Amino acid sequence: MANIIVTGGCGFIGANLVPMLRAQGHAVAILDNMSRGSVELLDNPADYEIIEADIRDAAVLDEAFAGRDAVIHLAAYGSVVESVASPEENFSVNAEGTFRVLDAARRQGVGQIVFSSTGGALIGNAEPPVSETSVPRPISPYGASKLAGEGYCCAFAHSYDMSVTALRFANIIGPVSWHKKGAVTAFFKAIMNGDPICIFGDGSATRDFLCVEDLCRGILLALDARRPGFNVYHLASGREVSVRELAELCRKVADAPDHPIVFEPKRAGEVERNFARFDLARRELGFEPEISLEEALERTWEWFVSHPERPGG
Ligand SMILES: NC(=O)c1ccc[n+]([C@@H]2O[C@H](COP(=O)([O-])OP(=O)(O)OC[C@H]3O[C@@H](n4cnc5c(N)ncnc54)[C@H](O)[C@@H]3O)[C@@H](O)[C@H]2O)c1
Repeated sequence: MANIIVTGGCGFIGANLVPMLRAQGHAVAILDNMSRGSVELLDNPADYEIIEADIRDAAVLDEAFAGRDAVIHLAAYGSVVESVASPEENFSVNAEGTFRVLDAARRQGVGQIVFSSTGGALIGNAEPPVSETSVPRPISPYGASKLAGEGYCCAFAHSYDMSVTALRFANIIGPVSWHKKGAVTAFFKAIMNGDPICIFGDGSATRDFLCVEDLCRGILLALDARRPGFNVYHLASGREVSVRELAELCRKVADAPDHPIVFEPKRAGEVERNFARFDLARRELGFEPEISLEEALERTWEWFVSHPERPGG
């Protein structure tokens, strides 16, 4: 049993992850400024020590990290499109914020960090499938800020003998994602609200969708492995799905096969084709996704329908 603090633990991925950490017997604290997430997203908030604070507040981090065995760093400004509109805020939260988290961990002797990086946005428009050997060429401030975060992760692992693992998440979908801005949330919301599904571009752009439960299993594997030095892994499904195909699947899952679809111009910062190989995570961590895209969409839809109060919305 370890004493773990999760930054951004009141967001989509955090709310799915923290009960799994508890189920493994870990003591779990959450540090979140509630800018995007909410305590209401947690099933049993009393199970966690909750610290409402900003990751850029070094003094608060010192206090919050003292005595912890590991930090899982999820807090971020997590949208490509918003990062194009507000690059400075994105830099502040993601690049400076990640530096602050690492630096506080160093000062407090926290030996292990797991960093939530990203696949597509960090690599940019490389020929897919991408992997840990692809050369990163981010085309959005969000992708650049995650690459900067990985740079500091690598530097701190080597300079201060810490175990730092960067996990490059695919596009994550699943329950507790009502407040998110991704395609699945937008498509399901459109269907629920009676608005047309809006696709930016011609629908041929592709993505790699991974169910949040599979992702969280990958995070737990990385935590358990506690590999020395700096390591980076893609956590993905390896399945390339076009946005048009995704819209069709969402209509099917929501039992709205004829729901209208409209097309708008593609947005700056968004990559064209993206999917990732996860062979390294499979080999070194034992990571294997178990939930199909169709099943993940069913679970997401079911959660949306069964949570009419939609916490965090
Ligand atoms: N969801 C995805 O598809 C996806 C894909 C790739 C990477 N990621 C990364 O995974 C992590 C978690 O993403 P998510 O989807 O759960 O997002 P989310 O927005 O639901 O959760 C992020 C949490 O961080 C908190 N936060 C933001 N800024 C903060 C700050 N300055 N100080 C303290 N807390 C702050 C928010 O309040 C929120 O609870 C992020 O780092 C994101 O970049 C997510």
